[in-house]
Amino acid sequence: MSKKEKNFSVIILAAGQGTRMKSPLPKVLHPVAGRPMIERIVSAVQKAGAEEVRVVVGHGENLVRQVVEPLGATCLKQEKQLGTADAVKAAQPESMRGTVLILSGDHPLITTEDVQKIMESHFDGKRKFSLVTVTLDNPGQYGRVVRHKGFIQAIVEAKDASSETLKIKEVNPSIYVLDVDLLNAYLPKIDNHNAQQEFYFTDMVSLCREDNIEVEAIRAPEHVGFGVNTQRELAEATQRVFRRNANRLMDEGVVIIDPSSTYIEDSVSVGKASVIYPGSYLLGQTQIGSFCVIEPNCFIARSRIGDSVQIKAGSYVESSQILDKAKVGPYARIRGGGQIGEECEIGNFVEVKNSSFGKKSKAKHLAYLGDAEVGEETNVGCGVITCNYAVDRKKYVTKIGKGVFVGSDVQFVAPVSIGDEAIIGSGSTITKDVPAKALAIARGRQFIKENYQPQSPQQSEEEKSKESKEG
Ligand code: UD1
Ligand code: CA
Repeated sequence: MSKKEKNFSVIILAAGQGTRMKSPLPKVLHPVAGRPMIERIVSAVQKAGAEEVRVVVGHGENLVRQVVEPLGATCLKQEKQLGTADAVKAAQPESMRGTVLILSGDHPLITTEDVQKIMESHFDGKRKFSLVTVTLDNPGQYGRVVRHKGFIQAIVEAKDASSETLKIKEVNPSIYVLDVDLLNAYLPKIDNHNAQQEFYFTDMVSLCREDNIEVEAIRAPEHVGFGVNTQRELAEATQRVFRRNANRLMDEGVVIIDPSSTYIEDSVSVGKASVIYPGSYLLGQTQIGSFCVIEPNCFIARSRIGDSVQIKAGSYVESSQILDKAKVGPYARIRGGGQIGEECEIGNFVEVKNSSFGKKSKAKHLAYLGDAEVGEETNVGCGVITCNYAVDRKKYVTKIGKGVFVGSDVQFVAPVSIGDEAIIGSGSTITKDVPAKALAIARGRQFIKENYQPQSPQQSEEEKSKESKEG
């Protein structure tokens, strides 16, 4: 079959409110491992080659639009939620051609590969109507797939089923592939004579069978059938995606001490022989190199980590880059725009925002570097801060050159620039530029009184006024 003949369009049903979620957010926008359910499904079908994606919206229409339209999907409104067949009608299939894949927006575990396999089975079998089925030990509220002599006859909703039918374990995950012409011919025949007085799309199956049109099953793995209707199921879906991602990384040679307590989103990559300790969260577009150690309880979002980097316990890294062999933490916070050079050491309780560190520089304890450029092999002492935010509510840059020694407890009042190999004395408040190789000290001199005796309050007042005149 040529590529063109394998083209397909998609309808995703997402107009329902999801009452059982007990949440004001439309059900399909609830995130599974950081991505809204509907976004997962739209992107899975797009990556599998869908030509066009139509999303049927209703409850929370505008919010759903904001998520799916930027992905290139079209939204069509179902005015009243009269059932899944009415929702398919709202997608206006009369303006579609060829083959259509229909699925619902609340089955977030389906992958691109699942969709590809489903479409291949459909096309290879030269079928008109395929019904995806899943076998579950606990078929619960799912529609049951009723067969006669092995052939599919109907889908019966759990609410309409006899106790005999409820024993069937082959269920309907709400995924259908069919010729658009067939869809358009039978959709108007569906009525709402059932327990819920809804137009059930599932009735397509029995209507087609009555006219001897074959409906063939495509058996899919259990996760394809995993539908989210409650917050508990949402949490379970998230756990399963995290586990899937941990498995993917372990299969690629990453050491994960406890996959059940490691939270890894889909877009994260980690190099071989890196070790990830429990309680770590790896989010968004994050790339971690090889031979890294991510100690317990680290949060790393949208960042690039080189090779052989150590991120020690309890560190927070966001939208930053950390180059090879650097050490960060424990308890460091690298905020947006951090650029930590090779072999740098950023120690405990150091906060770095929109700042770069050249190779082999260090800030090992209790410091704040905001809007700073630090050269190579510079040492930033304990308690050093940049005063980057001024009374005019603007931010200013602190430039610190190469090989600079910054003593402890120094404040840099930006904008200020420190030349290479300069030395800044401890406790200095630096307000003016310091040339290369210079020593800068900007602090009060030490004052000593020999044989100092405690005084009465009155004496001490007199003493103070005398001091201030002298001082
Ligand atoms: C449906 C199937 C059931 C299947 C189950 C799998 C029907 C009649 N039943 O039941 O056989 O086992 O899915 O999860 O199709 N929706 C609309 N507009 C509506 C009604 C629903 O857009 O008027 C959307 C919902 O937002 C949801 C999807 O269709 O994304 C499925 O609807 P839901 O009410 O959850 O159907 P189930 O009762 O789960
Ligand atoms: Ca459902």
